[in-house]
Amino acid sequence: MKKTGFIFDLDGVIVDTAKYHYLAWRKLANELGFEFTQGQNEQFKGVSRKRCLEILLEIGNIKASQEQFNRWLIEKNEDYLSLIEKMDESEILPDVQKVLQFLRKYHIPMALGSASKNARPILEKVNLTDYFKVIVDGTQVTKAKPDPEVFLLAAEQMGVRPKECVVFEDAVAGIEAANNAGMLSIGIGEKKVLSEAKFVFANFTEIDDKFLKRLIG
Ligand code: BG6
Ligand code: MG
Repeated sequence: MKKTGFIFDLDGVIVDTAKYHYLAWRKLANELGFEFTQGQNEQFKGVSRKRCLEILLEIGNIKASQEQFNRWLIEKNEDYLSLIEKMDESEILPDVQKVLQFLRKYHIPMALGSASKNARPILEKVNLTDYFKVIVDGTQVTKAKPDPEVFLLAAEQMGVRPKECVVFEDAVAGIEAANNAGMLSIGIGEKKVLSEAKFVFANFTEIDDKFLKRLIG
């Protein structure tokens, strides 16, 4: 089937912000008196800020009032924002622009489909906003990945049928969301982690024009 719309996740696909999310969550965990490992951080990928804090408190076995919970959400985000403050184009993952430029050359509409409420300012910082016809972020969706809402909304706004869409994702929950949306899922990361994806590449340097041409027909 010819693919006429391409959707990109942001964190871990376009930019390597997963490390900054990790550092901010680790700081909070340490303040609360427990460790938070890189391994545990895997389950935070693709997951909303609120759900991440719920998981973190489960890990630390900590109960909190609604008010305290909200304060920690704000604190984590403030720490995250200060970590990404100086972000620039140098933090775009390898060969992302190559793929975006290829698709633009063939007039294929592109969308961003991210769980992050910080997606727009990050795209601005790295100067990639102009590539995207549509941006769907954490401020617009009510159901988190693996629910397909974010990708279905992106397809609808691009005016492309879901089965004609391709999704690039680095998170297990994101691959599931793409599959649930009836889209072609492409994992960016490790095959053993993203086993449900239709194709998996370590990063965009492994994706060549031949492969993209095959997708767009
Ligand atoms: C996703 C990240 O893209 O966005 C998650 O993979 C993160 O780790 C989520 O929790 C929400 O991000 P934000 O910027 O709204 O806290
Ligand atoms: Mg991601």
